Amino acid sequence: MKITVVGAGAVGATCADNIARKELAEELVLLDIKEGVAEGKSIDMMQTAALLGFDTKITGSTNDYSKTAGSDVVVITSGLPRKPGMTREELIGTNAGIVRSVTENILKHSPDTIIIVVSNPMDTMNYLTYKTSGLPKHRILGMGGALDSARFKYYLSQQLGCSPADLNAIVIGGHGDTTMIPLIKHATWNSIPVTNFLSQEQQDKIVADTMVGGATLTKLIGTSAWYAPGAGTAAMVESIVRDEKKLISAGVALEGEYGLSDISLVVPVVIGRNGWEKIVDMKLSEEEQASFNKSADAVRNMNDVLKTL
Ligand code: 2OP
Repeated sequence: MKITVVGAGAVGATCADNIARKELAEELVLLDIKEGVAEGKSIDMMQTAALLGFDTKITGSTNDYSKTAGSDVVVITSGLPRKPGMTREELIGTNAGIVRSVTENILKHSPDTIIIVVSNPMDTMNYLTYKTSGLPKHRILGMGGALDSARFKYYLSQQLGCSPADLNAIVIGGHGDTTMIPLIKHATWNSIPVTNFLSQEQQDKIVADTMVGGATLTKLIGTSAWYAPGAGTAAMVESIVRDEKKLISAGVALEGEYGLSDISLVVPVVIGRNGWEKIVDMKLSEEEQASFNKSADAVRNMNDVLKTL
């Protein structure tokens, strides 16, 4: 198995670190446009191999895509991260050009790969990758739901005083502060509805905190977060390379599912060796479907900006 992570910034490097620790690939290539950064970070990670006991061979490359040839999975993290006060959507002008060119370069050397898009605004960048790559829709996934659902579980666990690992909770919609939909009515604590234990006020706060989870961290850190984004991406990679068939919410191109078409949005999907293998219908309530449609409208407006670039 060969995996490439494009972008050796904090998210890309953390994702690579998780992939190596879990030994998800024999070969892992880290590529960045900045001279020496990918090489340096990959040597640093390789120097943890003796301590952590993994056998993945990590190499770095400054923009030489021939090194990525034959990758089974490619993660795209390239582009600018958010600064405090910025929305993910404000990054579209710069990041669209970067993601388009990364996709073209990757496909020259790995035409059969599966691509996971992490760059923001993710829903639009995933749609752009789907449209420009010409790859079958199952081979393009956007990372958002894995991260946002983990943040949702964090906030739920804080209120419930329980282990986040005991929670089942999912976020769908868009990966934006106003477009993500943490489905609290569907969330359970080992099969028991979490709503049994939480007041309406507590539920509203958990949902609101989850939606701005990324912005809260950007404000605290001064740039966008990386531990959970890196781990969320690696969890998707793991389900692909180990063919785990995990149910993870991810950005996928919809063709009539959830009543929408010609758009990429986050929905629950089964992820396995072929990419996303199945979209799972959650049977949303009328109110939930209305929120989903509202998110779709916002994401569509953002997608329309692509035509003006
Ligand atoms: C975040 O929410 C990177 O968009 C990512 O932290």
